[in-house]
Amino acid sequence: MNKLLVSLLLTWGVSLTAQAADIAVGDVVAGQAKTAVCGACHGADGNSMAPNFPKLAGQGQRYLLKQLHEIKDGKRVVLEMTGLLNNLSDQDLADIAAYFASQRGSVGAADPNLVARGEALFRGGKIDQGMPACTGCHSPNGAGNAAAGFPHLSGQHADYVKKQLTAFREGERTNDGDTMVMRTIASKLSNKDIDALAAYIQGLH
Ligand code: HEC
Ligand code: HEC
Repeated sequence: MNKLLVSLLLTWGVSLTAQAADIAVGDVVAGQAKTAVCGACHGADGNSMAPNFPKLAGQGQRYLLKQLHEIKDGKRVVLEMTGLLNNLSDQDLADIAAYFASQRGSVGAADPNLVARGEALFRGGKIDQGMPACTGCHSPNGAGNAAAGFPHLSGQHADYVKKQLTAFREGERTNDGDTMVMRTIASKLSNKDIDALAAYIQGLH
């Protein structure tokens, strides 16, 4: 395995163990009842129709819960969600995460002109620049690794993915943590690479 990937995974493992103690257990049924306001943008079952609103259906519970806490605390700025999470407790957030994680994610279509480049990057990385393949953490079919908190990517809207990869690269999304996993990876991606990866991920399943 690639050296960068190994060191990223090792550092990640250490921070996971440290966090493991304070995770609330979510309840799917209770969670559904708390998501009425979310459905307008993310879809009632978490399969949003608008390409700039991320799909949450089938996303890993651990990753969802982390994002919810960080959006609530302002570590990740989502203007559209300003104030929406303020009155939700840790238990509410855990229930909501459990609900969306239990739903089945839909898959879109990949732009045929971009898919070959996207697949090569997703599966092969950029060896000459020390950039690991995405598959090492997000798995070959894009399912991610729920237990580790590596997000599920398959079927995600290309517009949303493009925005996130650009935000990681430009230092506008910094909540990937002190290890800077995604910021380091995105620093190796050109705009064309990002377009290709986003298209490939939208059709991946
Ligand atoms: C007005 C639209 C809107 C509403 C309502 C809304 N969201 Fe969001 N949400 C967004 C947008 C837009 C983003 C992505 C922002 C970005 O590009 O980084 C987002 C991001 C997220 C993410 C991060 C997803 C990821 O893959 O990292 C989670 C989790 C989330 N929302 C949960 C919720 C929950 C739970 C509710 C209801 C309590 C909710 N949202 C209500 C618009 C909305
Ligand atoms: C060493 C592990 C690792 C590798 C390799 C990796 N990622 Fe990630 N990725 C992560 C982690 C961890 C996060 C979640 C960061 C956070 O908690 O905010 C993430 C988040 C993302 C997100 C945001 C998901 C969302 O819903 O907002 C996208 C998009 C993404 N990665 C794409 C990629 C692509 C494309 C590649 C290959 C070029 C890649 N990743 C390689 C670990 C990795």
